[in-house]
Amino acid sequence: MDDMDLVPAPSAFWWVPPPGYDCLDAETQLEAQPGTEGVARWLRATIGAATGLPFPDGNDDDNRIVLSIDPTLPPEGYRIVADGYARRLQGGSAAGVFWGAQTFRQLLGPEAFRRAPVTARREWHLPLVVVEDAPRFPWRGLMLDVARHFLRKDDVLRYVDLLAAHKLNVLHLHLTDDQGWRIEIKRYPRLTEAGAWRTRTKWGHRASDLWNDTPHGGYYTQDDIREIVAYAAERHIRVVPEIDIPGHSQAAIAAYPELGNTDVIDTTTLPVWDTWGINPNVLAPTDNTLRFYEGVLEEVLGLFPSPFIHLGGDECPKDQWKASPAAQARIKELGLADEDELQAWFIRHFDRWLAERGRRLIGWDEILEGGLPPGAAVSSWRGYAGGIAAAEAGHDVVMCPEQHVYLDHRQDGGADEPVPIGYVRTLEDVYRFEPVPPGLSPDAAAHVIGTQANVWTEVMETRSRVDYQVFPRLAAFAEVAWSTRLPAAPAERDFADFERRMSAHYRRLDALGVDYRPPGGPLPWQRRPGVLGRPIEGAPPNV
Ligand code: ACM
Repeated sequence: MDDMDLVPAPSAFWWVPPPGYDCLDAETQLEAQPGTEGVARWLRATIGAATGLPFPDGNDDDNRIVLSIDPTLPPEGYRIVADGYARRLQGGSAAGVFWGAQTFRQLLGPEAFRRAPVTARREWHLPLVVVEDAPRFPWRGLMLDVARHFLRKDDVLRYVDLLAAHKLNVLHLHLTDDQGWRIEIKRYPRLTEAGAWRTRTKWGHRASDLWNDTPHGGYYTQDDIREIVAYAAERHIRVVPEIDIPGHSQAAIAAYPELGNTDVIDTTTLPVWDTWGINPNVLAPTDNTLRFYEGVLEEVLGLFPSPFIHLGGDECPKDQWKASPAAQARIKELGLADEDELQAWFIRHFDRWLAERGRRLIGWDEILEGGLPPGAAVSSWRGYAGGIAAAEAGHDVVMCPEQHVYLDHRQDGGADEPVPIGYVRTLEDVYRFEPVPPGLSPDAAAHVIGTQANVWTEVMETRSRVDYQVFPRLAAFAEVAWSTRLPAAPAERDFADFERRMSAHYRRLDALGVDYRPPGGPLPWQRRPGVLGRPIEGAPPNV
């Protein structure tokens, strides 16, 4: 294998001269030194399943793999030494050893990505190499919107594995929106009894007038959530839950009408929303709403150990608050200037509430409007500007500008993209995305704690559609988020070399069963014959 078939590219890689291979076989032992037992479990379960090799415990033969922690390495960094003797896989922490194990799997070839061996192969070649590597950013994320279209628990677990294979370490779950509430909250059962289901779904985007009349819904029980969080933790991935307030809340209001602005509209007749866009039905700024969401968050904190809790804060139209005597009285009582400050008051309340419980609030960049509480972090989605302002003001920032890393947006301008929406953002565009904009002061740049690709699922009604939008672009994104070798200047990045390495990576994605968009365009079945396979007739290009 060529050195740079690895994706994402490691910091350093060299062949041990003369170039050659050694072999793993049924006798290859696995020695897990203290702190690496979890990685050994993963290696046996995953690489063991793909190769059919048992990796017996042992430390008495050069034909072994030694996992160990070397605290002189960066916490998520690792070193692989395969020099014809015992193969050493060292990490700065268990996480580093785990990321090293992902590279080790790539070194064994694409068949090591299968779920079960296809042939009874007795020997697996391992190139004699040294790899030294560490990530560029501590936050390397993917947001999955499981609200617009529910993704079954098993499919979420599969995405955890796909993140791990790309050395991404944050799974942001967008759990609530106008179109569905996806997490069981024991004290408010109607959130899922009523709020997790809608009677029909808009096909396509805003300009479409086509409907899927099959009811859609689903939710994760608290046991499901515990399983997802534990599965991710074993893979050194943090799950960040998002409960979106005070906008994007119609599903919650449909379940509990008193959460809405009842002096403006009759909230008792609101259904879970069946279409897309920015919704005027937002939470009422009442004490009842605050207590309700404190109750929700108490259960959320019990399920998610993440230090960050995402509270949304995006796209909250202020029309109902302007029309509501109760909201206006609240503005006056609190001495606020306007409705923007009322939203800031909402966010500040929960920022304080989370801080008292040892957690930190993160929200979309709208939370900058009306004043941001000191410890809050920002997901910068409407471009770089919000992230720049927040970072210069000393807030931590996750860069996820929609112009670059919204993977629901089409990846080609051709007519055969399935349900094309948004900007055209090709694999190369994502490869040239730079999370730290030029001109940031060094102090502010240090507040860019990472980057995230976001997957909104309005037009992704199946797992296969999600795969199509996410891959192969997530591989380019992973290299941006992980690789210290990538020049910061987008124009200096060697996309041709990335494409060359991708030809090996497509074979890995094939073995993993990922329905990625092939480089030549969608396959016939991916175009989805029928209405889903074409741009909506007569619609503007941005449907
Ligand atoms: C967003 O895309 N509304 C965060």
